[in-house]
Amino acid sequence: MKIVLFGPPGAGKGTQAAMIEGKYGIPHISTGDIFRKNIKEGTPLGKLAKAYIEAGELVPDELTMGLVLDRISEPDCLGGYILDGFPRTILQAEMLDRKLMEFNDSIDFVLDIDVQDEVLVERMAGRRVCRDCGEIYHIEHLPPRIHGICNICKGELIVRKDDEAETVMTRLAVYREKTEPLVAYYRRKGLLVTIDGEDDRMVVFRRIEEVLEA
Ligand code: AP5
Repeated sequence: MKIVLFGPPGAGKGTQAAMIEGKYGIPHISTGDIFRKNIKEGTPLGKLAKAYIEAGELVPDELTMGLVLDRISEPDCLGGYILDGFPRTILQAEMLDRKLMEFNDSIDFVLDIDVQDEVLVERMAGRRVCRDCGEIYHIEHLPPRIHGICNICKGELIVRKDDEAETVMTRLAVYREKTEPLVAYYRRKGLLVTIDGEDDRMVVFRRIEEVLEA
């Protein structure tokens, strides 16, 4: 099962991808997480990506595409995967299609998680992530058991640099301009399913399960 999880920043892609991975046992591939790991480790890719991410802009396609195409060629992706945050431009989507076609393969589901802007802004303002393992929390909707501490690894919870209010507005504008055209791209291919993402995360997950198991 090959799934593209699509939707604006803060829609809940990372939250739902972790739940899909947990239930269906396919790897969750998040380009945002890959970039953040590289930034934390100070790799050459991280150094190149940092300024774009902190400004709320997209990392250039040429830095992004190779790393995803390599990742989906790894053995743990043979049974499928969840792409979270990729593709994000028409060029990325076309490259992905071409790569899959080489193996007579294709994406099975494109799930577009639909959430209004006011809710997105509130979700990103309240998001906290673990500095060490990346687990996602929200100060109201999904607080940790101990304030500021990750339930899983006891790491410190931090605010993502790109969750600052001004950067969030840039990210939403970049999404509308560069990523939203993919809705029409995948609708034409008959792959797009819109998921109402505004309810509790378990309700949203049940909607996704219904689509995947229909
Ligand atoms: P990335 O990390 O992919 O960020 P994003 O797409 O902007 O998405 P987010 O991680 O902000 O949100 P999400 O939808 O995963 O929501 P979450 O589950 O955390 O990318 C970051 C940057 O990297 C980009 O801006 C770009 O610079 C670069 N980049 C990445 N991929 C790229 C690519 N392909 N090409 C070029 N550049 C790329 O949830 C948000 C909050 O809401 C959390 O606090 C969560 O607990 C809460 N929440 C989730 N679901 C619910 C719910 N149902 N009810 C209440 N609260 C909820």
